[in-house]
Amino acid sequence: MEKEEFENYIKAGKILKTVQDNARKKAKIGMKLLDLAESIEKEIFDAKAGMAFPVNLSANNLAAHYTPSFNDETLIEEKDILKIDIGVHVEGFIADASFTVDFSEENSKLVEATEQALENALSMIKIGTQIGKIGEEIEKTITSFGFKPIENLSGHGLMKFIAHASPSIPNISKNDSRTIEEGKAYAIEPFASTGKGRVKEATKTEIFEFAKQIPLRNLDARKIQAKAIEEFNGLPFAERWLMKEFGETKTKIALRELLLKGSISGHPILKEDKDILVSQAEHTIIAFNEEIHITTK
Ligand code: CO
Repeated sequence: MEKEEFENYIKAGKILKTVQDNARKKAKIGMKLLDLAESIEKEIFDAKAGMAFPVNLSANNLAAHYTPSFNDETLIEEKDILKIDIGVHVEGFIADASFTVDFSEENSKLVEATEQALENALSMIKIGTQIGKIGEEIEKTITSFGFKPIENLSGHGLMKFIAHASPSIPNISKNDSRTIEEGKAYAIEPFASTGKGRVKEATKTEIFEFAKQIPLRNLDARKIQAKAIEEFNGLPFAERWLMKEFGETKTKIALRELLLKGSISGHPILKEDKDILVSQAEHTIIAFNEEIHITTK
């Protein structure tokens, strides 16, 4: 990794940290999730950085990939466990971090389980640490709190303009002898659940990502495909971002065509069973100059 790349990773992490601290202060019971998402995204924009993905605001049994829709009226409720997952990039170099807000303060153990799992994972990670061992540490910690790690959600590598690169960093013990390597960036993100520790896809999808360039007839679809490539740089984007420009109906029609033709793919909301609660904590690290740097702390 070049020094300049490293510096961009650090810059992205610093911006994210500031935005995250502000989000912690802004998030209040009774607030619209849409207002929170837009205010976080505006801060990233004002910092002259890019969005690595739409702000994820997944509450309660929703674990990931919920970003408010265009006219979302959902409010933060008194009992919500809200995961705020933010991604920032500088010249394509990504910082990805999340935290959980427990509005009722009745679920502090659940929140602590992922925070502690993340801490423990970060303190054991060195260059050469086996990926499978990180999952083992996360699982051990979350289990010790009496919860289940979510086995089918994982941390991931980060590459220029790629928010989810290989390898996956498991949240459970795995036989994976691949290691943390010099010059690479990773997001470590444990999830803890009061349920069985498995998420499934909901039918609702708010987040999409460019997949393949396809010749298209529909003008809006063509414009959106071009945006997905040039403006979003192949990174995930929100349906609501497009609706501001194209309107609701035209966006829906265009996205349907893009999905059907394979130009884009969707990231459906990932959820645990009803009435189950999920917490998450996440930081980005880079292995550079034989040291591990936490960029988002
Ligand atoms: Co992540």
